[in-house]
Amino acid sequence: MPVNESAPELLDRDRVLELVPDEGPWDTFVDRPATPEDLEPRAAPMLSLDDGPLLGHVSSVDAGRVLVTLTDDTAVERATVSALVALRARDGFLLGIIDRLVCSETSERVTAHLMPVGSFHPSEGGGGTFRVGAAHQPRIRAGCHLIEGELLSSFMACVAADVAPQERLILGHYGDEHGAEAVADGNRMFQRHLAILGNSGAGKSWAVALLLERAARLQNASLIVLDLHGEYDPLDDGGIATRVRLGGPADVVDPDDDLLYLPYWLLEIDELAMVVLNGDDPHAADQRLWLVQRIEAMKRASLAAVGNYAEEGRTTVDSAVPYSLEQLLEWAERDEVEQIILQPSGKVVPGPYAGKLRSLINRIEARRADPRFAFVFQPPAQSQSLDWLPKMALMLLETGGTEPGIKAIDLSELPTMLVPLAAGLIARLVYDIQFWTEPSLRTPLCLVCDEAHVYLRETEDASPIYQAAMRRFETIAKEGRKYGVCLAVVSQRPSELNRTVLSQCNNFIILRLSNDQDHAAIVELVPGAFAGVADVLPTLDVGEAVVVGDAVPLPVRIKLDRATYGPNSQTIPYWTLWASKPPSADAVVMGVGALRAQWRAPSETTASETAASGQTSGSPDAPGDP
Ligand SMILES: Nc1ncnc2c1ncn2[C@@H]1O[C@H](COP(=O)(O)OP(=O)(O)OP(=O)(O)O)[C@@H](O)[C@H]1O
Ligand SMILES: [Mg+2]
Repeated sequence: MPVNESAPELLDRDRVLELVPDEGPWDTFVDRPATPEDLEPRAAPMLSLDDGPLLGHVSSVDAGRVLVTLTDDTAVERATVSALVALRARDGFLLGIIDRLVCSETSERVTAHLMPVGSFHPSEGGGGTFRVGAAHQPRIRAGCHLIEGELLSSFMACVAADVAPQERLILGHYGDEHGAEAVADGNRMFQRHLAILGNSGAGKSWAVALLLERAARLQNASLIVLDLHGEYDPLDDGGIATRVRLGGPADVVDPDDDLLYLPYWLLEIDELAMVVLNGDDPHAADQRLWLVQRIEAMKRASLAAVGNYAEEGRTTVDSAVPYSLEQLLEWAERDEVEQIILQPSGKVVPGPYAGKLRSLINRIEARRADPRFAFVFQPPAQSQSLDWLPKMALMLLETGGTEPGIKAIDLSELPTMLVPLAAGLIARLVYDIQFWTEPSLRTPLCLVCDEAHVYLRETEDASPIYQAAMRRFETIAKEGRKYGVCLAVVSQRPSELNRTVLSQCNNFIILRLSNDQDHAAIVELVPGAFAGVADVLPTLDVGEAVVVGDAVPLPVRIKLDRATYGPNSQTIPYWTLWASKPPSADAVVMGVGALRAQWRAPSETTASETAASGQTSGSPDAPGDP
């Protein structure tokens, strides 16, 4: 597949978007008809690929594998695992990555095992065309040349020139910051979901911040980050993202504009049942039936009360229509003790739900009183109005307004066990809104799932809340492409993540990863030809990555650029802080106060201050069954 083949459904080949240098907050593109020069394949002058140092000669060629015997000690010193090499093949070059170096047991001979990754056909006058896949195999004894330094830079620049300016997503540089820019295709990166994987501290959150920062240059960028640690606050300070936080009990009286609620009436019956029903209760089935009947009737009544009879006819128990929890409880109390007088006998018998609803009433009351569920069961009074949901949806999805279209939803005050509920609800809400939006008016959206192993874990004994969240994300992974919803799954444990979601990802930004199980997961995920990249992963430095997928031409090691407004996730310099930090008594007492209140004052440190002090934030994890 040529790297410059653009998504046909998105781009009109007769028109181009030209980047206009601008001092303003966003990159500005002018839409104009394409000129013949625009349609010419872009070629950058470059050295010939066999100008690089000769490493050795081909000694064996197999389908999908080439062995090269290294010439001498200098070649042995130069050849490293993950190095990019070129071999003459017909009128062009076969590009390969060294994934193994083996020294013979009987002689001094060293053999390099290559994984072919693509072919390059030079054009007259410089430049050329790169294609993924090995079009031609090299001959035995063909020379193998190392592509490094200036040659690597100019080759990657030539390949990157195939990506049109308006589609360029600059991720970093090859080698160091002086190397060629590592350019990805911004369309392809988000078209079929992506995953950012790597050990804790490898630089995933910084990679997310970098993507957000790059996307923020586009006027209508729409990304929602599920921020489990409140890490992305500095991006709000920098005008990159808008911080949104889940409403808590302290916010009920005077809710701020940046508060997100997911009121009980927004829950589908399965979600509500998970929260208020106990599956072991002998009356659970009756209680569920009662909820369906009562809630549907109350939703219809809400619409009829405002004369909206058209929608009333189509209303189901799952419709996003407000009803009053107070009234639901009143109905429950009534039906719990209902007596029916049979006619004509006049005999008094218990109602169909009499004596069956007490445990349901108790559980709803308990949930309502539990401050951890405030974002569901204590929504502000305004949320009872029909025009509240569009306002809430705009807060999440509006682009091109005065606030950045990138939203970081701070879930840091939520106990870990409730994160799947909130994450699943947010995912469903934004997916459903996108689904029902007129296709030509949709702005595509990316849902960034940081710390995805917390709510997208592959586990057989998962609670119903976990399972429901996983189902939501699986649906988005399978169907989201058609409706403009992309997932960016970020995790330190790829081996624990939901397989369906991961297998739908088309691009992987993989940072340092040293665990064997996670390696095996990566080998399973990336296209067969690139499985060798797993061997390079433990050797990556912080902020270094290998990007695999159709958004990049080659899975070559790159140094990711450092975001200007990085997340509050600095690695803590323990030794230095133990030597220099002032006494901690006040901080401990304040910590206990926050633990009791389940509320933490927003951090006043900016990214740079945090970098200097080395502090980090964590997520509270309240014990006990919610
Ligand atoms: N591109 C980069 N260049 C230089 N340093 C970086 C880069 N990316 C991250 N770092 C440093 O690495 C540290 C950890 O980064 P980050 O918080 O992104 O890790 P993480 O992979 O998200 O970890 P976790 O899984 O624990 O959330 C930070 O201190 C940051 O300064
Ligand atoms: Mg992180």
